[in-house]
Amino acid sequence: MTDSGLIPAPRHLAWAPGRPRQEGLGGRAGIDARTTIEARLGTEGVARWLRATLGAATGFGLGDGHDTDHRIVLGIDPHLAPEGYRLVVEGRTHRIEGGAPAGVFWGAQTFRQLLGPDAYRRAPLRPDRDWELPEVTVEDAPRFPWRGLMLDVSRHFMPKEGVLRHLDLLAAHKLNVFHFHLTDDQGWRVQIKRFPRLTEVGSWRARTKFGHRASPLWEEKPHGGFYTQDDIREIVAYAAERHISVVPEIDIPGHSQAAIAAYPELGNSDVIDTASLTVWDSWGVSKNVLAPTDDTLRFYEGVFEELLDLFPADAGPFSHFFHIGGDECAKEQWERSPAAQARIQELDLADEDELQSWFVRHFDNWLSARGRRLIGWDEILEGGLADGAAVSSWRGYQGGITAARAGHDVVMCPEQQVYLDYRQDAGEDEPVPIAYVRTLEDVYRFEPVPSELTEAEARHVLGTQANVWTEVMEDPARVDYQVFPRLAAFAEVAWSALPAPAERDFAGFERRMAAHYGRLDALGVAYRPPGGPLPWQKRPGVLGRPIEGAPPNV
Ligand code: ACM
Repeated sequence: MTDSGLIPAPRHLAWAPGRPRQEGLGGRAGIDARTTIEARLGTEGVARWLRATLGAATGFGLGDGHDTDHRIVLGIDPHLAPEGYRLVVEGRTHRIEGGAPAGVFWGAQTFRQLLGPDAYRRAPLRPDRDWELPEVTVEDAPRFPWRGLMLDVSRHFMPKEGVLRHLDLLAAHKLNVFHFHLTDDQGWRVQIKRFPRLTEVGSWRARTKFGHRASPLWEEKPHGGFYTQDDIREIVAYAAERHISVVPEIDIPGHSQAAIAAYPELGNSDVIDTASLTVWDSWGVSKNVLAPTDDTLRFYEGVFEELLDLFPADAGPFSHFFHIGGDECAKEQWERSPAAQARIQELDLADEDELQSWFVRHFDNWLSARGRRLIGWDEILEGGLADGAAVSSWRGYQGGITAARAGHDVVMCPEQQVYLDYRQDAGEDEPVPIAYVRTLEDVYRFEPVPSELTEAEARHVLGTQANVWTEVMEDPARVDYQVFPRLAAFAEVAWSALPAPAERDFAGFERRMAAHYGRLDALGVAYRPPGGPLPWQKRPGVLGRPIEGAPPNV
């Protein structure tokens, strides 16, 4: 099955039996001005979404109705997997049934794909066109429960409208986790009412390095922005309607310079003048990390208390996860700080690495006591982890392998494969090229489950996510360029039952991409064209940091 143009590829697709075939596509079915939506119990949200999106694209009312033969029937079939669905397109009556509302929603996404690229527009191009689609039966279910994208909105802020748009883009690719990297050295992006300086001071910087940190260029204008608590509520609800769980990340104890700039007492004031720190305007790993004091713990408990309210645990299957970062915590200041050293003594710890795990463990316990699960980057494994904690394996597969063997759940996101900030071609024209070449085909051949794991260990791999760090993505169009089309390949890896990497039919995927580029065009996605960047997508003269050769740890 490759000629449906569906991405990600479904498990089974059958052209309608006994119908006249047109160009191998079976009979033609359609929707029209008389089409109604019959939403059976539990599918009202999907009906709302279908009516809003297909209604806008077609101009049809798509009202409620069940006694007509022009209708889309939505229903739950408990025999299907919760995210699985069966879609039957036939004549003027179509059925989308899922094991749970999420499955119905993914089926509705397939239905939209089959309607063609104009189904992705927000208004009809002409009033009188036919909306046809092939008569098919699709039976489908995802390979992994966690199919995610991490977006860094700290290095460059993504205004709320852009976030909502990305949620739509995730949904269109059947991705269901949005890992929201809300804080870092270069900006704090979420309103915390009890600590207003986090956004008054921490959400903006006076200027910004343009290009890799070794670049001499600066963008000499203030950059900033943050989400109010109501913005966050809106984002979480918008995601939930699309069956996407939002997993917030507050990065501690490293990557915290913006917070320290706002509240200098959070930093190691016995070794540096934290009062003179500003939100960082360049890139890399800042040495300015949190002081390991009780006051720091209480401060972040206060932050997390507000966030637990904004990110309710029941908003989606992974909404009870809370990401605490934990990556790349520079130890220099702790080594020099008498207060940090005294803390190490007092807690009977071996060294600064154990101090970092003490930090993480504190929040692991704190979150567990509140019914949440901690997830962190694979550095959090280094001092041993509490039972329920999960790991985002980013420094290759190894962290994930270690974690799965120790009984921890894992999200595989190795930088060598699925860091979408990494350049996608070796050509000179790639804008601000970073790290290894990771082409569309490379991403298509990414395998989230390493062969070293036994079947039982592999069950700890919840799934996979692609990560988007935005140091060199100064606006949403640059984000589009890095993310697409590779996210389409990634979505197929996360959803579809693909064979081993070497056996994957990349040529077939590329054929389906021809249809998919039409959808991305209709959605206004500024993807990297197969032939390379368009003139305005290039950044001549802006220094990147390409790494030659094969990435390590593959
Ligand atoms: C990371 O890339 N520092 C998680």
